[in-house]
Amino acid sequence: MAGSVTFTMIKPDAVGNNHIGAILQKINEAGFRIKAMKYTKLSAEAAGQFYAVHSARPFYNDLVSYMSSGPIVAAILEKDNAVADFRELIGATDPTKAAPGTIRALFAKSIEANAIHGSDSDENAQIEGNFFFSGLERF
Ligand code: CMP
Repeated sequence: MAGSVTFTMIKPDAVGNNHIGAILQKINEAGFRIKAMKYTKLSAEAAGQFYAVHSARPFYNDLVSYMSSGPIVAAILEKDNAVADFRELIGATDPTKAAPGTIRALFAKSIEANAIHGSDSDENAQIEGNFFFSGLERF
């Protein structure tokens, strides 16, 4: 059965361009409930840990610099079929390929500064959520 929780980050480009409110509105309108939320900034070390799965990729160093360049909003979201439905809501990684109306089509600047992250599996949703939030902070 599909999991009911996913993890998201609103990335530095979208935060810096004042898109937090518009993005959260789209998330709520799509039926997701916010279970935990944090406005914070990643150190380069923390960004490197979060994206360690991409450490062999050519874009890794730039990604780590970018993700630690400014504040982000991290959140745990709940909805039936959360992981798949959220990835549909945010659109393709490359905003030039994202479907019209998706969050990345509306707000992303580039394949790197692509406005928002969404977990790619139920397992990663748990791992990524735990990276930012302890069990006590969830309700
Ligand atoms: P995200 O969904 O957060 O997961 C990994 C991130 O790496 C991705 O969004 C992009 O921000 C970035 N990324 C993926 N592919 C590329 C690429 N080809 N060039 C630069 N950045 C990329």
